[in-house]
Amino acid sequence: MSEVKLFSGEKLPLEMHKVRVVQKLNLLPVESRQKAMAAAGNNTFLLRNEDVFLDMLTDSGVNAMSDQAVAAMMVADDSYAGSATYYRLESKICELFGTQYFLPAHQGRACESILAETFVKPGNVVPMNFHFTTAKAHITRVGGRVEELVSDAGLIPESDLPFKGNIDLDKLRECIARNGSENIAFVRIEAGTNLIGGQPVSLENMTQTAQIARENGIPVVLDASLLQDNLHFIKTREAACKGMTIREITRAVCANADIIYFSARKLGFARGGGIAMNNREYYERMKGLIPLFEGFLTYGGMSVREMEAMTVGLEETMDETVISQGPQFIEFMATELQKRGVPVVTPAGGLGCHINARKFLSHVDAHEYPAAALASAVYIAGGVRGMERETLSEQREPDGTEPIASMELLRLALPRRVFTMSQVLYAVDRIGWLYENRHLIGGLNFVEEPATLRFFFGRLEPIGDWQEQLVAKFRKDIGDSL
Ligand code: F0G
Repeated sequence: MSEVKLFSGEKLPLEMHKVRVVQKLNLLPVESRQKAMAAAGNNTFLLRNEDVFLDMLTDSGVNAMSDQAVAAMMVADDSYAGSATYYRLESKICELFGTQYFLPAHQGRACESILAETFVKPGNVVPMNFHFTTAKAHITRVGGRVEELVSDAGLIPESDLPFKGNIDLDKLRECIARNGSENIAFVRIEAGTNLIGGQPVSLENMTQTAQIARENGIPVVLDASLLQDNLHFIKTREAACKGMTIREITRAVCANADIIYFSARKLGFARGGGIAMNNREYYERMKGLIPLFEGFLTYGGMSVREMEAMTVGLEETMDETVISQGPQFIEFMATELQKRGVPVVTPAGGLGCHINARKFLSHVDAHEYPAAALASAVYIAGGVRGMERETLSEQREPDGTEPIASMELLRLALPRRVFTMSQVLYAVDRIGWLYENRHLIGGLNFVEEPATLRFFFGRLEPIGDWQEQLVAKFRKDIGDSL
């Protein structure tokens, strides 16, 4: 059991850890926040962290580390080749995933680049539950194409289905029949499906997906970056897995994949990544790219200190009291926002709390980036930095047209074990205020639009003077508060 029940019946995300090292935060006055947002081109990626109060941009590389993980960094074996640190990490990964071979890489997208280079030929298709930005960018960069096969229910923001990240098996069969298995590079299953609100995939669905792929001779690639939350959801939501340990669930999940890759900026509470597999031929095909792009085979571009921390972090991921913290805080935040009428993705998933920006700002045109406008407004209202997830995070089609994303979300990531409940409630308060004043918020226009991964460094401007109006209303309603 990972949940403590209160006698009062209240549901609290009780911390199963204590804070021993802290970082001072800075909360600028609302007028300065508006200026900082303008200087950042209304792109939360371009804010300086010193201007941010609660950094909910991402959980990537910013999860709290345990004392044990920090301590392990001190015993790292600094050597270019054959480091003992590498062998400790390799053996932990092989133990947890049940794999034989491991290739280290500096982060998740490096793994995606190597997989795309090795397996995707021009014209190939990669079916998946849902794309992730960098995964899609690497597949399209080498001439491949992505097909998203998530069940229709996954794209309905508000529901009570436990596994909205599941692949629609009929769509998968149809996709294979239509494209021909020889044109399918691999089937990609993304655990904890990022762009649809951190929604999990059931073990049953992974198993059935793998069966169909294998019947057709197609390899299965698991993106395990968000596996941590997905493991928690399998344990708590999938009846057949109630009696299994997290370790057993991990093995069962991984048994469905021919190749497992992950960003250790998410899985393992560190900064790094890697690719694990049992198939020697796949290993040999990818191996040569590691020294070429990442680093020698025993560090792959990672610091040995991070690798030691990752070994400990991966082991800690097997502890239910550790991995339940994120989902419990996310559910708490989502429930508090709902109490204030704010439309959020339900059921609450992993990674962070996701606000349905299309519904929040139903008056803002889809081509004026409602989720990005909301991200800008949330920063101005509270110094809280979130991330636009959808239309702006998409790529334009080759003909320049702009696909409107199926969902328009503002993600407020909750890096694990970083924020306290009062900080979450402060963010909820400011977003609740914003919701009351949502009619004031307008859209955004691009002023600088990069061709690739434009959400990282594109710059936008507000359409009209809505930000000035928002600041004036803040002063009127909240007085001289920061
Ligand atoms: N796969 C998933 C599911 C991810 O969420 C990410 C990163 C990656 C791959 C790429 O890993 O960043 O180490 O190169 N997600 C981060 C986020 C960036 O903020 O959601 P990376």
